[in-house]
Amino acid sequence: WPGLDAIPHPAGRRPDTLDMENSDFVRPMQRMFQWSRELGPIFETQAPGFGMVVVTGADLARDLFDDTRFEKYTGFGIEAFRPVTGDGLFTAYNDEENWALAHRILLPAFSREALMRYHPKMAGSVGRLVDHWTKTAGDGPVDLGESSVSLALDMIGQAGFGFDFGSFEGGGKNHPYVSSMVNALAYSVLPPQLQQEREAEFRSWVTTMNGTVDDVIDTRRRSGTSTDTDLLGMMMHARDEVTGKRLPDENMRYQVTTFMVAGYGTTASLITFCLYFLSRNPGVLSAVRAEIEQTVGDAEIDFESVYRLRALRRAVDETLRLWSPTPAFLRVAKEDTVIGGRYEVRRGGWAALLTSGLHRDPAWGEDVDAFDPDRFLPERVRAREPHLYKPFGTGPRACIGRQFALHAATLALAETVRSFDVEVPQDYTLSVAEGGFFMPENLEVSVRRRT
Ligand code: HEM
Repeated sequence: WPGLDAIPHPAGRRPDTLDMENSDFVRPMQRMFQWSRELGPIFETQAPGFGMVVVTGADLARDLFDDTRFEKYTGFGIEAFRPVTGDGLFTAYNDEENWALAHRILLPAFSREALMRYHPKMAGSVGRLVDHWTKTAGDGPVDLGESSVSLALDMIGQAGFGFDFGSFEGGGKNHPYVSSMVNALAYSVLPPQLQQEREAEFRSWVTTMNGTVDDVIDTRRRSGTSTDTDLLGMMMHARDEVTGKRLPDENMRYQVTTFMVAGYGTTASLITFCLYFLSRNPGVLSAVRAEIEQTVGDAEIDFESVYRLRALRRAVDETLRLWSPTPAFLRVAKEDTVIGGRYEVRRGGWAALLTSGLHRDPAWGEDVDAFDPDRFLPERVRAREPHLYKPFGTGPRACIGRQFALHAATLALAETVRSFDVEVPQDYTLSVAEGGFFMPENLEVSVRRRT
């Protein structure tokens, strides 16, 4: 960024530690958001040996989303996760052969037809949550984040790989794969010095994860079933139409862990935040329930009816606007260029796009901090520039699991609000944890079965 000096930076920068004193290492993304409100649509922040340009403004973002000039940046946190997910879809470099191969092979595994096949498994997971809540609801407050994580793990485990993490039976104890994944995720965002100190532990977590995934794949192979009803089945049997190749074994292992890592926390975050907002907005909740009542009544929520729940879907979209589970994504310049007509960036220069900032840009209108699902009424969506809304990233490296997540979350939310009153205590003030994805913390709700 040749004109870095002209880009604002946080106040109180010190010559030796730069912005370190003002940073928040527990909630770094929320501090960035505060900075964006103080400093405007673009700012830069530095720590010794490290610097980053952060963009939140819609006009600048429009340029960053131009795929002819920018692409996904695979350095920083993504690079640190390569030992876990290698050339899997999320951590693959843009020009890596296995990214294009896997992208082509796996797209059909996220199509509407594929989702139709996953639907009964997702519904089974939701049924387990309903049973769990029905049994335990009288025992006192429920940790909503924990329940959503159990549900999301079960959904991806079952619909993805026919694997049962026993997340509702563990009594709060995670399957070793899950604890290793959570630890490895936390490790990947540690400063390099702390990473060095914990490298041996990190290796052991990766070994545990690889062992579990290899077992799942081996078991499926040995079973001789050619089922294509889950992601793993499709991954094992599909052949690339262009090259005729299948996914190499090691890459398949990387993809399984990629889907787990990319899918469980994000989907759980969406479900938790949406239930929080619905509880705090009774008018929206009533409209959502009325629609469920009219559309499905007491019947099973089948694949097609999930798409007819438009009021709920608008609540989901608005939740993703206000608290997009993934706080940011990174873009790098493919050539020397200019953004917003005034900020020069050289080839290789990168920026973090802070989704929370973009999603609360003044172009959204007044009251950008308010939960208002009507923003997603079709006529209002049509009147808005599409680049204002990017919860799933952008371009060829955007989220491949988008429809999977939206379907899973909408189904789960429909069933929970139909079956339960989920009440957030009046005195709860939203506090959000960070660890790869945003998640409301200490959110203990009361859950009562509806008749
Ligand atoms: C990529 C968000 C759910 C799999 C991404 C990206 C975002 C995102 C922002 C782009 C990251 C970047 O540019 O570096 C979300 C959100 C989700 C969600 C908000 C839920 C609400 C899922 C699920 C899966 C998944 C359920 C899989 C089952 C992936 C993969 C990529 C990705 C594989 C990398 C795609 C590629 O580079 O080819 N996601 N995601 N995501 N997501 Fe998701």
